[in-house]
Amino acid sequence: MSSAISYNAAATNSLIQNSAREQLAPSLLAARDEIFADLDLLSSGNIPAEKQPLDSGCIDLPQRLLTSESALVDRMEAAAAKFAGQVDRMLVLGIGGSYMGLRALFEALCDPCHNDLPRELRGNAPRLSFEGDNLDNDAQQALLRLLSLYKNPQELAERWGIVVISKSGGTLETAAAFRVYRKALEAYYGASSAEATELVIPVTGETGRLRDLSNTRGYQTTFPIPDGVGGRFSVFTAVGLLPAAVLGIDIRQLLQGAADITEALKTGEPGSNPVLDYVSTCHLLERDHGMDIRVLSVWGKRMEAIGLWYDQLLAESLGKHEKGATPLTVVNTRDLHSRGQQHQEGKRDRVITNVTVGSPSTADIHLPSVDASLDQDQLNRIAGKSVHELLAAAIQGTNEAYASDNRPTADIHLPKLDAYAVGQLLQMFMLATVLEGRLIGINPYGQPGVEGYKGNMGRILYGK
Ligand code: PA5
Repeated sequence: MSSAISYNAAATNSLIQNSAREQLAPSLLAARDEIFADLDLLSSGNIPAEKQPLDSGCIDLPQRLLTSESALVDRMEAAAAKFAGQVDRMLVLGIGGSYMGLRALFEALCDPCHNDLPRELRGNAPRLSFEGDNLDNDAQQALLRLLSLYKNPQELAERWGIVVISKSGGTLETAAAFRVYRKALEAYYGASSAEATELVIPVTGETGRLRDLSNTRGYQTTFPIPDGVGGRFSVFTAVGLLPAAVLGIDIRQLLQGAADITEALKTGEPGSNPVLDYVSTCHLLERDHGMDIRVLSVWGKRMEAIGLWYDQLLAESLGKHEKGATPLTVVNTRDLHSRGQQHQEGKRDRVITNVTVGSPSTADIHLPSVDASLDQDQLNRIAGKSVHELLAAAIQGTNEAYASDNRPTADIHLPKLDAYAVGQLLQMFMLATVLEGRLIGINPYGQPGVEGYKGNMGRILYGK
């Protein structure tokens, strides 16, 4: 495996004895066996009641897409290239698992100024706008106004299209936004124009309201979200891959990273297995020390949305039956100036997992030297150092400060922030979440608690 991500929890050794890890190992390995055995159950279609719902398809999906189902990847790439050549803005409508994975990929792997760049500096990829992730009138109006500035549907620079994503096809936020923006799109191109059906790509389950609407309206390109892959585990289906490919992200590298970390989980021993070791550390600190807040401390702005995606993954998967750790994402060094105080001196209820990157994706910026008469900021003594070196000092200094007060940290290290490493990281978190669920007896799939508010909304809006 090249440029593999690594996991190091040495800084937790004062709290976690080797013997505790060794005692946990048989249960961890049994949980690992269970999550791979779940795949056989899923494909048999014979799922016992106590296992339902079972959405374990995400575990071997990357490997399948690279081999037996590679025709689907070919089809996604072809559709993405065509769509990218037809529009200069892609609206992605979706919420929860049908939104957060793509946002994580976009922020981590596209230029941070992507939407502001001229098309040639975006690699000829369209701009990206998200909607359908809320019920926010002003946000929707702002986007409608932006779209209304486009006047010439024949000009590539003024063309836009929609990718609408909903596995169930019935999520109100997404469905309502789809109506609003579909109306705008049909008004712009003409309801009976080719664009009205060509520039809308639904990504949805095999059945459901969005599937029915797609069939009736005759959208020319649609992609399925397979049964057996849950919403927040669906980033490596067309939910994440299709729009990622439109943005020019190398989706095969994503899948390769994800497949490789899955193989590493299957074959690696505790102590040299990032997924097993991550679960072991988090679980033991929670079980033996009551540390049930999981701080994901990402050292780079581009990884914030990965953290938010992980917040959803952990909270919705394990926050059941009055169990499950609470996730919290911080972006450093920014949040050292907000939450840092509490991490250093607040309750001893958290484990901090750093996510660090070996080298920047772009050329180093070095701190310029200035004339001594203008050295009031006294930075000449570190002139020449790169921003990345300053960051490294912050990472080291912060970890040392936490260690000096016996506050546990662990590190996930990515050699580079590229598609391969991000593929590994996202799959590592999905595997770890499923594995921990099996370890603590929580079904990581499904989100029955979310139905409460939906039912009430239905009663309030539809009177039933
Ligand atoms: O993880 C999940 O299943 C949820 O977060 C869903 O992704 C979210 O509710 C959106 O559902 P849908 O894709 O059916 O619109």
